[in-house]
Amino acid sequence: MTVRKTSGAPAARTWLVTGGAGFIGSNFVHLLFAQEPNARVRVLDKLTYSANLKNLQLFRGRKNFQFIKGDICDARAVARAMAGADVVVNFAAETAVDRSIDDPHTFLRTDVEGVHTLLQQARKEPQLKRFIQISTDEVYGQIKRGSFYENSELRPRNPYAAAKAGGDRLAYSFFATYGLPVIITRASNNYGPRAYLEKMIPLFVTNLLDGQKVPVYGAGLQIRDWLYVSDHCRAVHMLVDRGVSGEVYNVGGGQECTNISLVRRMLKLMQRDERSIKFVQDRPGHDFRYSLDCSKLQRLGWRPEHNLRSGLRSTIDWYSANEDWWRPVKANMERRFFTGYWGRKR
Ligand code: NAD
Ligand code: DAU
Repeated sequence: MTVRKTSGAPAARTWLVTGGAGFIGSNFVHLLFAQEPNARVRVLDKLTYSANLKNLQLFRGRKNFQFIKGDICDARAVARAMAGADVVVNFAAETAVDRSIDDPHTFLRTDVEGVHTLLQQARKEPQLKRFIQISTDEVYGQIKRGSFYENSELRPRNPYAAAKAGGDRLAYSFFATYGLPVIITRASNNYGPRAYLEKMIPLFVTNLLDGQKVPVYGAGLQIRDWLYVSDHCRAVHMLVDRGVSGEVYNVGGGQECTNISLVRRMLKLMQRDERSIKFVQDRPGHDFRYSLDCSKLQRLGWRPEHNLRSGLRSTIDWYSANEDWWRPVKANMERRFFTGYWGRKR
């Protein structure tokens, strides 16, 4: 789907980016303006605890940028934000696994009902050419050996993952039933600038910058695949035009490692030693390993530009240079994040 003016120059499209004040959504808006400076971009965001308007301050006052504070479960706010949109990218979600274990209902509301509200409005927008539902590798559940393909069975194992699986399949159903031009992406663990500090990498980097210990769950043997956030955003942007409606695309960094080996890499890069590690109580039902086969996306020409070495370096550099961004965030975070969310190990 390439929208063109009669002159042959690409026409400026109207984008609705939900959750654009959060980590990945804001990085996406930055990428979008870099790729399409004339795009008309609307961000709809409820501004939950993980949002930060500083993430979008570069665009304040721009004629082709509009921020709307609102909830994706609110049909009126959604109708206003989506009116006339060519492309919708839904990043808005409750995203923290640990919090979902404490409070599943908040996750069901935003990650399923909110997706439903967006999809219903999308049916009323005949000009809409693409609806991207940002899903996650967690919908597949854990895998000991091998990797998940887009057609692997979904076996989500925590309330966040289950809610995201609901939103993911609901989006697909609107393609199959109503012909909505939906694409679903399932990405692995993102890291990079502007991530709320409850997630492992930003929490640990800022703890180490502060001379604090890092709380490793269990023995740190779980495996995650790390994806630098701009690589994820490039994939989403590419899929808007090159992806096929009704399809799912895995987006992984191809950088799998155990949590403890990742921590050791961080310690080395930040000139700290093992005394900075504190092993704490494990997350209930902690998924052991995620792994994605991304050949479907790669066949469209996408490759990650960052490996863990370059991505960690630039993430550490960003948090080192942006204390004014993270210090106020950290000052407002619950203490349990620093001492071990599920408790200290006895
Ligand atoms: P985030 O928590 O940093 O940002 C989420 C944003 O959504 C926030 O700005 C928040 O205010 C907004 N939001 C939450 N509920 C809302 C609602 N009801 N209405 C409107 N806005 C609402 O999360 P993130 O890490 O940027 O994740 C973005 C998306 O990517 C999510 O859909 C998540 O499931 C998915 N994802 C994240 C990762 C990761 O590693 N962070 C990996 C794969 C997929
Ligand atoms: O895989 C994609 C998912 O990655 C996204 O869909 C989620 O939105 C995102 O939050 C993330 O989920 P994880 O649970 O994998 O991310 P988190 O940063 O919370 O944890 C990464 C790993 O580090 C995980 O194995 C748990 C561990 N961990 C985490 C924290 C916060 C610790 O050992 N100590 C910690 O304090």
